[in-house]
Amino acid sequence: MRLDKFLADHEIGTRSEVKKILAKGCVCVNGLIIKDPKTQVTNTDQISVSGTLIETDTKKRYYMFHKPAGCVSAKTDACEQTVMDFFCGEPRWQELCIVGRLDKDTEGLLIVTDDGAYCHTLISPKKHIPKTYYFETDAPLCEEAEKIAGEGMTLRDKTKCSPAKLEMIDESKGMLTIYEGAYHQVKRMVSALGGHVCYLKRMSIGNLMLDESLAIGTYRRMTEEETWQAICQSPKKNSYSKI
Ligand code: URA
Repeated sequence: MRLDKFLADHEIGTRSEVKKILAKGCVCVNGLIIKDPKTQVTNTDQISVSGTLIETDTKKRYYMFHKPAGCVSAKTDACEQTVMDFFCGEPRWQELCIVGRLDKDTEGLLIVTDDGAYCHTLISPKKHIPKTYYFETDAPLCEEAEKIAGEGMTLRDKTKCSPAKLEMIDESKGMLTIYEGAYHQVKRMVSALGGHVCYLKRMSIGNLMLDESLAIGTYRRMTEEETWQAICQSPKKNSYSKI
Protein backbone atom coordinates (compact mmCIF):
# COMPACT_ATOMS: atom_id res chain seq x y z
CA MET A 1 0.00 0.00 0.00
CA ARG A 2 1.17 3.58 -0.65
CA LEU A 3 2.57 5.38 2.36
CA ASP A 4 0.17 8.33 2.07
CA LYS A 5 -2.82 5.98 1.99
CA PHE A 6 -1.44 4.02 4.95
CA LEU A 7 -1.09 7.25 6.97
CA ALA A 8 -4.54 8.48 6.01
CA ASP A 9 -6.07 5.08 6.90
CA HIS A 10 -4.45 5.38 10.32
CA GLU A 11 -6.07 8.79 10.76
CA ILE A 12 -2.86 10.81 10.67
CA GLY A 13 -4.66 13.28 8.40
CA THR A 14 -6.38 13.61 5.07
CA ARG A 15 -4.39 12.57 1.97
CA SER A 16 -3.37 16.21 1.36
CA GLU A 17 -2.46 16.82 5.04
CA VAL A 18 -0.43 13.61 4.99
CA LYS A 19 1.52 14.83 1.93
CA LYS A 20 2.50 18.00 3.83
CA ILE A 21 3.57 15.96 6.89
CA LEU A 22 5.69 13.77 4.60
CA ALA A 23 7.26 16.80 2.88
CA LYS A 24 8.31 18.16 6.30
CA GLY A 25 10.31 14.97 6.91
CA CYS A 26 8.25 13.90 9.94
CA VAL A 27 7.69 10.30 8.75
CA CYS A 28 10.17 7.48 9.27
CA VAL A 29 9.87 4.03 7.71
CA ASN A 30 12.14 1.47 9.36
CA GLY A 31 14.26 4.28 10.78
CA LEU A 32 14.68 6.25 7.54
CA ILE A 33 12.99 9.58 6.81
CA ILE A 34 10.71 9.07 3.81
CA LYS A 35 9.15 11.98 1.92
CA ASP A 36 7.76 10.21 -1.14
CA PRO A 37 4.01 9.54 -0.68
CA LYS A 38 4.17 6.80 -3.33
CA THR A 39 6.58 4.64 -1.25
CA GLN A 40 5.11 1.17 -0.81
CA VAL A 41 4.73 -0.07 2.78
CA THR A 42 3.23 -3.11 4.48
CA ASN A 43 2.02 -3.89 8.01
CA THR A 44 5.41 -5.38 8.84
CA ASP A 45 7.15 -1.99 8.38
CA GLN A 46 7.86 0.17 11.41
CA ILE A 47 6.26 3.51 10.59
CA SER A 48 6.46 6.53 12.88
CA VAL A 49 5.24 10.10 12.68
CA SER A 50 7.20 12.68 14.68
CA GLY A 51 8.73 9.83 16.66
CA THR A 52 5.43 8.09 17.52
CA LEU A 53 5.14 4.55 16.21
CA ILE A 54 1.91 3.74 14.38
CA GLU A 55 0.37 0.52 15.49
CA THR A 56 0.37 -1.71 12.42
CA ASP A 57 -0.84 -4.75 14.28
CA THR A 58 -3.86 -5.89 12.30
CA LYS A 59 -4.62 -8.76 14.63
CA LYS A 60 -8.07 -8.58 16.14
CA ARG A 61 -8.26 -7.11 19.62
CA TYR A 62 -10.24 -8.62 22.49
CA TYR A 63 -10.51 -6.78 25.80
CA MET A 64 -11.91 -7.85 29.15
CA PHE A 65 -13.47 -4.81 30.81
CA HIS A 66 -14.50 -4.64 34.46
CA LYS A 67 -17.50 -2.40 34.00
CA PRO A 68 -18.31 -0.06 36.85
CA ALA A 69 -21.85 0.97 37.74
CA GLY A 70 -22.77 4.37 36.33
CA CYS A 71 -21.76 4.01 32.69
CA VAL A 72 -23.97 2.95 29.80
CA SER A 73 -23.13 0.13 27.38
CA ALA A 74 -22.96 2.42 24.38
CA LYS A 75 -20.41 4.03 22.10
CA THR A 76 -21.72 7.54 22.55
CA ASP A 77 -24.33 9.23 24.69
CA ALA A 78 -25.30 12.87 24.94
CA CYS A 79 -25.42 12.90 28.76
CA GLU A 80 -24.04 9.69 30.26
CA GLN A 81 -20.53 8.30 30.60
CA THR A 82 -20.20 5.36 28.19
CA VAL A 83 -18.17 2.16 28.14
CA MET A 84 -16.38 3.47 25.06
CA ASP A 85 -15.19 6.54 27.00
CA PHE A 86 -12.81 4.13 28.77
CA PHE A 87 -11.36 2.95 25.43
CA CYS A 88 -10.93 6.20 23.53
CA GLY A 89 -7.18 6.20 24.18
CA GLU A 90 -6.81 3.01 22.14
CA PRO A 91 -5.73 3.29 18.51
CA ARG A 92 -8.67 2.91 16.12
CA TRP A 93 -11.05 2.75 19.08
CA GLN A 94 -13.87 3.64 16.68
CA GLU A 95 -13.62 0.08 15.30
CA LEU A 96 -14.34 -1.46 18.71
CA CYS A 97 -17.76 -2.84 19.60
CA ILE A 98 -19.26 -3.68 22.95
CA VAL A 99 -20.38 -7.30 23.17
CA GLY A 100 -23.91 -7.24 24.55
CA ARG A 101 -25.24 -4.83 27.12
CA LEU A 102 -25.14 -4.45 30.85
CA ASP A 103 -27.51 -2.01 32.51
CA LYS A 104 -26.10 1.29 33.72
CA ASP A 105 -26.17 0.10 37.35
CA THR A 106 -24.74 -3.38 36.58
CA GLU A 107 -21.05 -4.09 37.16
CA GLY A 108 -18.81 -6.84 35.93
CA LEU A 109 -17.53 -8.65 32.89
CA LEU A 110 -17.93 -7.01 29.52
CA ILE A 111 -16.03 -7.93 26.35
CA VAL A 112 -14.99 -5.23 23.90
CA THR A 113 -13.54 -6.23 20.52
CA ASP A 114 -13.03 -5.18 16.91
CA ASP A 115 -13.92 -8.68 15.73
CA GLY A 116 -17.48 -8.33 14.43
CA ALA A 117 -17.97 -12.06 13.79
CA TYR A 118 -16.86 -12.92 17.33
CA CYS A 119 -19.23 -10.31 18.73
CA HIS A 120 -22.06 -11.75 16.65
CA THR A 121 -21.35 -15.29 17.93
CA LEU A 122 -21.43 -14.16 21.53
CA ILE A 123 -24.70 -12.27 21.29
CA SER A 124 -26.51 -14.67 18.96
CA PRO A 125 -29.53 -16.10 20.81
CA LYS A 126 -29.05 -19.35 18.85
CA LYS A 127 -25.68 -20.01 20.52
CA HIS A 128 -27.10 -20.10 24.07
CA ILE A 129 -23.85 -18.90 25.61
CA PRO A 130 -24.34 -19.01 29.40
CA LYS A 131 -23.88 -15.83 31.39
CA THR A 132 -23.62 -15.96 35.15
CA TYR A 133 -24.61 -13.09 37.42
CA TYR A 134 -24.14 -12.50 41.11
CA PHE A 135 -27.06 -10.59 42.59
CA GLU A 136 -28.20 -9.21 45.88
CA THR A 137 -31.87 -8.81 46.65
CA ASP A 138 -33.55 -6.69 49.27
CA ALA A 139 -36.67 -8.86 49.25
CA PRO A 140 -36.49 -12.65 49.75
CA LEU A 141 -37.24 -14.93 46.81
CA CYS A 142 -40.06 -17.46 47.08
CA GLU A 143 -39.25 -20.88 48.53
CA GLU A 144 -39.30 -22.78 45.26
CA ALA A 145 -37.30 -20.15 43.36
CA GLU A 146 -34.42 -22.42 42.30
CA LYS A 147 -36.83 -25.07 41.01
CA ILE A 148 -39.06 -22.55 39.20
CA ALA A 149 -36.08 -20.90 37.47
CA GLY A 150 -34.70 -24.33 36.55
CA GLU A 151 -37.92 -25.37 34.87
CA GLY A 152 -38.14 -22.29 32.66
CA MET A 153 -40.21 -19.59 34.26
CA THR A 154 -42.66 -16.98 33.01
CA LEU A 155 -42.06 -13.30 33.70
CA ARG A 156 -44.74 -10.87 34.87
CA ASP A 157 -45.34 -9.72 31.26
CA LYS A 158 -45.81 -13.41 30.21
CA THR A 159 -42.38 -13.69 28.54
CA LYS A 160 -41.30 -17.35 28.71
CA CYS A 161 -37.69 -17.90 29.81
CA SER A 162 -35.66 -20.95 29.00
CA PRO A 163 -34.46 -23.00 31.99
CA ALA A 164 -31.89 -21.12 34.07
CA LYS A 165 -29.68 -22.14 36.96
CA LEU A 166 -30.39 -20.31 40.20
CA GLU A 167 -28.26 -21.01 43.25
CA MET A 168 -29.07 -19.02 46.37
CA ILE A 169 -26.05 -18.36 48.60
CA ASP A 170 -28.24 -17.12 51.43
CA GLU A 171 -31.55 -15.27 51.70
CA SER A 172 -30.26 -12.10 50.08
CA LYS A 173 -27.54 -13.29 47.65
CA GLY A 174 -27.55 -15.62 44.70
CA MET A 175 -25.99 -16.65 41.40
CA LEU A 176 -28.11 -16.90 38.29
CA THR A 177 -26.97 -18.42 35.00
CA ILE A 178 -29.06 -17.61 31.95
CA TYR A 179 -28.68 -18.79 28.36
CA GLU A 180 -30.43 -15.91 26.66
CA GLY A 181 -30.32 -12.16 27.09
CA ALA A 182 -33.72 -10.51 27.13
CA TYR A 183 -34.03 -6.92 28.35
CA HIS A 184 -33.33 -6.66 32.11
CA GLN A 185 -33.65 -10.42 32.23
CA VAL A 186 -32.00 -11.09 35.58
CA LYS A 187 -33.83 -8.27 37.33
CA ARG A 188 -37.14 -9.36 35.84
CA MET A 189 -36.61 -13.02 36.75
CA VAL A 190 -35.70 -12.16 40.32
CA SER A 191 -38.70 -9.86 40.52
CA ALA A 192 -41.04 -12.59 39.23
CA LEU A 193 -39.63 -14.86 41.95
CA GLY A 194 -40.62 -12.33 44.61
CA GLY A 195 -37.28 -10.53 45.02
CA HIS A 196 -35.85 -7.19 44.02
CA VAL A 197 -32.29 -6.84 42.68
CA CYS A 198 -30.37 -4.13 44.50
CA TYR A 199 -26.92 -5.12 43.21
CA LEU A 200 -25.95 -6.98 40.03
CA LYS A 201 -22.59 -8.08 38.70
CA ARG A 202 -21.78 -10.30 35.70
CA MET A 203 -19.26 -12.90 36.76
CA SER A 204 -18.79 -14.97 33.62
CA ILE A 205 -19.55 -15.46 29.96
CA GLY A 206 -19.25 -19.07 28.76
CA ASN A 207 -16.24 -20.37 30.68
CA LEU A 208 -14.59 -16.98 30.88
CA MET A 209 -14.63 -15.62 34.40
CA LEU A 210 -14.14 -12.00 35.34
CA ASP A 211 -10.53 -11.53 36.41
CA GLU A 212 -11.14 -10.18 39.91
CA SER A 213 -7.62 -8.71 39.95
CA LEU A 214 -8.76 -6.34 37.21
CA ALA A 215 -9.64 -3.12 39.04
CA ILE A 216 -13.14 -1.87 38.50
CA GLY A 217 -13.23 0.55 35.56
CA THR A 218 -10.13 -0.96 33.92
CA TYR A 219 -9.54 -3.41 31.08
CA ARG A 220 -6.86 -5.64 29.67
CA ARG A 221 -6.27 -7.67 26.52
CA MET A 222 -7.73 -11.18 26.69
CA THR A 223 -5.46 -14.13 26.06
CA GLU A 224 -6.26 -16.36 23.11
CA GLU A 225 -7.42 -19.07 25.50
CA GLU A 226 -9.82 -16.61 27.13
CA THR A 227 -11.36 -15.70 23.79
CA TRP A 228 -12.20 -19.39 23.33
CA GLN A 229 -13.45 -19.75 26.90
CA ALA A 230 -16.04 -17.01 26.34
CA ILE A 231 -17.74 -18.87 23.51
CA CYS A 232 -17.87 -22.15 25.39
CA GLN A 233 -21.43 -23.30 25.94
CA SER A 234 -21.05 -25.42 29.11
CA PRO A 235 -20.04 -23.39 32.16
CA LYS A 236 -17.70 -24.70 34.85
CA LYS A 237 -19.01 -24.99 38.37
CA ASN A 238 -18.97 -21.55 40.02
CA SER A 239 -15.94 -20.88 42.17
CA TYR A 240 -15.89 -17.15 42.75
CA SER A 241 -13.46 -16.05 45.41
CA LYS A 242 -15.17 -12.91 46.64
CA ILE A 243 -18.58 -14.28 47.62
N1 URA B 1 -29.92 -8.74 33.34
C1 URA B 1 -30.28 -7.56 33.89
O1 URA B 1 -31.35 -7.42 34.44
N2 URA B 1 -29.40 -6.53 33.78
C2 URA B 1 -28.18 -6.63 33.22
O2 URA B 1 -27.43 -5.66 33.20
C3 URA B 1 -27.84 -7.87 32.67
C4 URA B 1 -28.72 -8.91 32.74
